[in-house]
Amino acid sequence: MEQKLKQLEIEAITKINDATDLKTLNDVRVAYLGKKGPITEVLRGMGKLSAEERPKMGALVNVIRETITKAIENKHHDLEEEAVNEQLASETIDVTLPGRPVKTGSRHPLTKVIEEIEDLFIGMGYKVAEGPEVEQDYYNFEALNLPKGHPARDMQDTFYITEELLLRTQTSPVQARTMEKHEGKGPVKIICPGKVYRRDNDDATHSHQFTQIEGLVIDENITMGDLKGTLDVFAKKMFGEDREIRLRPSFFPFTEPSVEMDISCKICGGDGCRVCKQTGWIEILGAGMVHPRVLEMSGFDPQKYTGFAFGMGPERITMLKYGVDDIRHFYTNDLRFLQQFAVQE
Ligand code: PHE
Repeated sequence: MEQKLKQLEIEAITKINDATDLKTLNDVRVAYLGKKGPITEVLRGMGKLSAEERPKMGALVNVIRETITKAIENKHHDLEEEAVNEQLASETIDVTLPGRPVKTGSRHPLTKVIEEIEDLFIGMGYKVAEGPEVEQDYYNFEALNLPKGHPARDMQDTFYITEELLLRTQTSPVQARTMEKHEGKGPVKIICPGKVYRRDNDDATHSHQFTQIEGLVIDENITMGDLKGTLDVFAKKMFGEDREIRLRPSFFPFTEPSVEMDISCKICGGDGCRVCKQTGWIEILGAGMVHPRVLEMSGFDPQKYTGFAFGMGPERITMLKYGVDDIRHFYTNDLRFLQQFAVQE
């Protein structure tokens, strides 16, 4: 019997060692230590043994059972560890591999130019103001000396929402709104960038939605000289120190006198070319001295205060600065167009 037990032990240990997975190991455990296994059988047969042999055999069975149990436990531990190591090995990440490049966007050329212009004027002490794009007829027209039925309203084809509500056709209503807020007290020194809308058919130079930047300065003793000096600084900073400016008489209902500003054409150096339509000059913006009636309507005393205003189109400025030949490029999100500006960041 002792012999048989020793044989069982060797057999069990061999099978344990040979087990390559947890299931096989469990089968071995059931086969040798389970209720129907040979060891239990030996224990059951103990009653038949003599009183002398019984404790001896009992002790031996216990030792063998212990040995097998321990061997199974150790193997179990080893197999588990192996499984974990295998999983770790199969899931290793090579942290030295180069990453997939993420495509970065870039700021829109119009945004860049608008920010450049903002910075320029902020540097001269201006504040940035904003107003609504859905505007009241009052601020877009009436407060700017354009009463209902005024013929000059036809200069700007308007998207009306109701009789009194429209999509602003210009950033000039922000002038009126800002003056109102100041309650008749100067100085006012703002620029106002924003979107404007006009009922135009889109083509290379027209868009039903575009951007403007408005400027407004009101204080005591502001003169046309201040306007010209300011615009001269702007033109030189924006287009190059070698640029000349020229003011031509013009008409806007909210400024008197009104002017349009041209800059000298860089392409032909003033001799005349296609871009400047053979004139040597390129029109950039509209401006003028704030009309006394406009000052008055927004609560400023025209006897005490004077001011100037100007309005420009960032699209036109960007087109001239970078040689863009079609305004629609700005709105169609063609990456081939936009990425050219990313390079210059
Ligand atoms: N608002 C005018 C336009 O859209 C431009 C302008 C602004 C002219 C301020 C004079 C003063 O045409």
